[in-house]
Amino acid sequence: MNQNKITVPREQWDAMFAPSSCLVLDTTVSEDGFVNAAPHATAIRVCHDPVSFAVTVSAYSHTAANLKATGEWVVNVVPFDETMLGKVRVAGLPFKHEVNELDKAGLTPIPSLEVKPPRIAECKAHFECKVDWIHEWENRLMAVGRVVAVSIDEDCYDPAGKIRWDALRPAIFCGFPYDGNFVPVYEPVHVKIPYDGPADWRTDIPYLAPPGEDGVPVVTAGRGRA
Ligand SMILES: Cc1cc2nc3c(=O)[nH]c(=O)nc-3n(C[C@H](O)[C@H](O)[C@H](O)COP(=O)(O)O)c2cc1C
Repeated sequence: MNQNKITVPREQWDAMFAPSSCLVLDTTVSEDGFVNAAPHATAIRVCHDPVSFAVTVSAYSHTAANLKATGEWVVNVVPFDETMLGKVRVAGLPFKHEVNELDKAGLTPIPSLEVKPPRIAECKAHFECKVDWIHEWENRLMAVGRVVAVSIDEDCYDPAGKIRWDALRPAIFCGFPYDGNFVPVYEPVHVKIPYDGPADWRTDIPYLAPPGEDGVPVVTAGRGRA
């Protein structure tokens, strides 16, 4: 593995995380300085501007404690590769606080650009986040944070500001009822909208963009973004 990481310019950050939810390894650092890594299926890009992520975890996890204590994490995008997914499963085992899951799984930390938790070299794209808010309910914790730096493997990066899907090879975790099963999500199929009539019935809802000068919401091309 000898991948050059490209530092992505801010205006391209949003397009670098695709699809809008996929399997990641989140790295955090505890208050007493221990590095932690945990796989999460619940990484979702929740805002385009500022580009922001949500992650939902067990309230009893080390990730939850670290997010509350230090307010930083790195979203590392995991490629669909059997060896790598095996390492992800190792990182998901319930190791003690002092144990570094990256060592256990045979993954390589590299320093981040803006935050203390490391990037993971074997992952393809990295979104460094600072917590905006945290909500706890039942036995869960949800954190939303804004992105402060993005980097990506050179071969996964199209300088036009898009990812190269077949190089990045994002994956989705099927969930615990499906044991160790994952779905590859890197064969996008373009689908035309089979409708060419008016679509102005929702212009009263400012869900795409803030209102323009006349107070009417600006509906952008593409009828919304994921
Ligand atoms: C593929 C995979 C996906 C997972 N996704 C989540 C998730 O979205 N949320 C969660 O709370 N735990 C998830 N887990 C379980 C945690 O990774 C696991 O409980 C881990 O030990 C928590 O680590 P931590 O205590 O170091 O944060 C997942 C595990 C695997 C293997």
